[in-house]
Amino acid sequence: MVNTYTNFSLLKYNTFGMDVQAARFVEYESVEELKHILSSFAPEDLFLQIGGGSNLLFTDNFPGTVLHSCIKGREVVEEDEESVYLRVGAGEVWDDLVAYCVENGWGGVENLSLIPGEVGASAVQNIGAYGVEAKDLITKVETIEIATCNERSFSVEECAYAYRKSIFKEEWKGQYIVTYVTYRLSKKPIFHLDYGNMKAELEKRGGEVTLSTIRNVVIAIRQAKLPDPTIQGNAGSFFMNPVIDRSLYEGLLEEYPDMPHYDVDESHVKIPAAWMIDQCGWKGHSLGRAGVHDKQALVLVNRGGATGSEIIMLSQAVRQSVKDKFGIDIHPEVNFI
Ligand code: EPU
Repeated sequence: MVNTYTNFSLLKYNTFGMDVQAARFVEYESVEELKHILSSFAPEDLFLQIGGGSNLLFTDNFPGTVLHSCIKGREVVEEDEESVYLRVGAGEVWDDLVAYCVENGWGGVENLSLIPGEVGASAVQNIGAYGVEAKDLITKVETIEIATCNERSFSVEECAYAYRKSIFKEEWKGQYIVTYVTYRLSKKPIFHLDYGNMKAELEKRGGEVTLSTIRNVVIAIRQAKLPDPTIQGNAGSFFMNPVIDRSLYEGLLEEYPDMPHYDVDESHVKIPAAWMIDQCGWKGHSLGRAGVHDKQALVLVNRGGATGSEIIMLSQAVRQSVKDKFGIDIHPEVNFI
């Protein structure tokens, strides 16, 4: 069924907790319904597809139509000795999918536990955490091309995935709407435990390492560091971790011998933006009603009643500090609307 609302509050559809309105808000449950909605749009009509709204910052009311997918369903479409191929509706809640896979003993997604948002966004944003990215699991992304209402499937190669990036965010931004994503899950899971304090946390708990203990540890780590958006508005990491030339990193090491990094390739490293923001002294500080989270400096929070502009002002001040101190430009992961 298609549900259409006018002058609709987006408060529950953005984790930053911005109390803005959409002129029109439309929810659909099937590919056919989505095609029907799109075919009624004129080329000049303004619209925006959202998922769980966990990576958006609204700076004002949205004067056009906000579309939200309620395409549900998880279906095993192929199976062999090693793997299960699960086709999932774009409107499924991401963490429900993770819980479902863990319950079934299917490995691959457990490190991505408790990431807010929906399945469609996992394929656009290439969500990632604790050494795993959605691209490691995705085999196929089904979409509707907005201009033609035609269905089009993309292989994982065609999606041109990179860190927090896909072709749907870059070259073909705003041209396709994701309807289904197929993931390859493993019946003989290989655990990825090398990131940060995961191994240490698992050892502390003792016992056998299973998909479910990994999920529990990831949830505990995230809950300890990241603010709960239902209590304090936020969109997870506000900035991406910058990838810089190794030579620049080596130069900085002389001044900052403790500077953490992740190797990207021979000539590039990724620097945790959180560490740099922390070094700039921003952690726990605020500008007006916008703040830098006191347990994870990469997260900007709405301390209550902040506007999108206040969050942007804080983000600009943080970026400038990082630029002044380290000569590195950091870029938001969050999309400004
Ligand atoms: N650090 C600080 N100060 C802080 C926070 C962290 O110095 O306030 C240091 C840590 O000690 C560590 C480094 O910065 O050396 C990295 O911190 P962390 O492991 O918490 O990860 P991150 O780089 O801040 C990324 C993702 C997260 C993901 C975690 C775990 C991005 C932009 N963020 O954060 O993703 O959960 O790794 O894999 O890549 C998200 O995208 O919303 C998100 C939460």
